[in-house]
Amino acid sequence: MAAKLMVGNWKMNGSLAANASLLSEVLAVMGGLTCRAAVCVPAPYLAQAQALLAGSALALGAQDVSAHEAGAYTGEVSADMLRDFAVRYCIVGHSERRQYHGESDVTVASKAQRALAAGITPIVCVGESLAERDAGQTEAVVKRQLAAVIHTNGHCISEIVVAYEPVWAIGTGLTATPEQAQHVHAVLRAQLQAATAHADRVSILYGGSMNAANAADLLAQPDVDGGLIGGAALKASEFLTMLKAASR
Ligand code: PGA
Repeated sequence: MAAKLMVGNWKMNGSLAANASLLSEVLAVMGGLTCRAAVCVPAPYLAQAQALLAGSALALGAQDVSAHEAGAYTGEVSADMLRDFAVRYCIVGHSERRQYHGESDVTVASKAQRALAAGITPIVCVGESLAERDAGQTEAVVKRQLAAVIHTNGHCISEIVVAYEPVWAIGTGLTATPEQAQHVHAVLRAQLQAATAHADRVSILYGGSMNAANAADLLAQPDVDGGLIGGAALKASEFLTMLKAASR
């Protein structure tokens, strides 16, 4: 397996000044770390982050991409536009997009396809709500969400990254236990194995209240290949502690 992949998801946070200080603090220590790392910044800050990260080990990511190639889609950002800023990763299907913007499994699959066509690695988010977990539907939900992406992107499915993010754990301080995460990650790995001979190349990240205190235990699980980190990625010292845990 490749080095662990740790991705900060800044969501709708930041400013020119705050981004500059956060990135400079992280970059000052990044040099000695062996994990892979990226930050997914709000679209208006792509140019700033591209300049600050140039030549560094911290890759640039975006938080969403249009399912369309170009044209009359006011407010949307295309994969080719992201590519212009040397974006390496793009989150697609985050539960906040699914919930607040009505993104369906089919839309998410199209977004992953647009990213791949532009040479950008989509970080495909899947995850169940608390009601779905309580109803025993966790496996069915994440498999349905991933199946749509496999169906649309079959031939290059080994090029994606998957993030398991239980909705009930996002921003709540409730983290899946390492065993709960491993169980779902193994389900997702098996689903990828059925679709490609290269499933071992797909990094499966855990996301949902991952922080400096719980990262090492989650990352110790055999199918947890990294993390997608929201709140804890906004503090340089906490993010760096997690990058160190992923570099062991
Ligand atoms: P959180 O967010 O770490 O703040 O829970 C994770 C995410 O939504 O990607």
